[in-house]
Amino acid sequence: MRRLARAWVLPLVLAAAVPALSMGSSAPSAADSVVIGGFPVEASQSPWTVALSSRDRFGGTRAGQFCGGVAVGRTTVLTAAHCLDEGVLGVPSERVRDLKVIAGRTDLPSGHGGQEVAVRRTWVNPAYDGVSNAGDFALLTLAEPLQGDSIITMAADGDPAYAAGGTATVYGWGDTSGVGDYPDSLRAARVRVLPDALCEEAYAGGSDGTYDATSMLCAGEAEGGRDACQGDSGGPLVAQGRLIGIVSWGIGCGRAGNPGVYVRVSDIMRTLGWTRAPEGV
Ligand code: ARG
Repeated sequence: MRRLARAWVLPLVLAAAVPALSMGSSAPSAADSVVIGGFPVEASQSPWTVALSSRDRFGGTRAGQFCGGVAVGRTTVLTAAHCLDEGVLGVPSERVRDLKVIAGRTDLPSGHGGQEVAVRRTWVNPAYDGVSNAGDFALLTLAEPLQGDSIITMAADGDPAYAAGGTATVYGWGDTSGVGDYPDSLRAARVRVLPDALCEEAYAGGSDGTYDATSMLCAGEAEGGRDACQGDSGGPLVAQGRLIGIVSWGIGCGRAGNPGVYVRVSDIMRTLGWTRAPEGV
């Protein structure tokens, strides 16, 4: 399942070529309809949401998009560690010469608007565990600063935005159906922060990963329907205007009893020793 999940971040073209693989990890439930259950948004409404791109690895159709990311500093982007896995990229991340962040662009194929910035340095959390999925975050240092007010504040430990029952929004260019329908344009889905107990029950351990409430966050809809999906990984989950999660994993997409699992942003801050995100790094 873990490998299948990785395979999911392949671009549309490749995903279409491996339908058997796609079906295996995520047969859609009746609730899967439309990020799943989402709606279109303009990049200007979430200027901190960026696309991770490599045209070399993923082709140019959707500007090479393969994961999401979120700007937490002018030259600092947070994403998921697994986005930089060799299993996703096909080669070690150092060998991807055209790794870029695309910011401020709603429609990827258009090539219009926003900025494409080269990634100067990647740092993958050395404690990332690909079996449990713990510590699934990485930092990208950009070659030049992002323009405008494109940075989101990270929610510190104890922030009410983490409270279960609250509404949150996840953004991305990921699969909208669970069977490999990759949109050209940015989408968002309104989800709920769910009690840890729901994810502890759903993901008690096994080949898919193990839910750990100190470093992960559970969100979606208890009855399924709205969720992030493959290709959204690394992107933001936002509540009360602050960043609370990074899209990380789940079983299928939008399935009842299998909520989305996010990296808990306060745990990233604790790990990095940040009280707030860096400004000009
Ligand atoms: N691992 C996926 C990715 O690489 C993200 C999966 C999120 N799944 C979910 N059901 N919320 O894009």
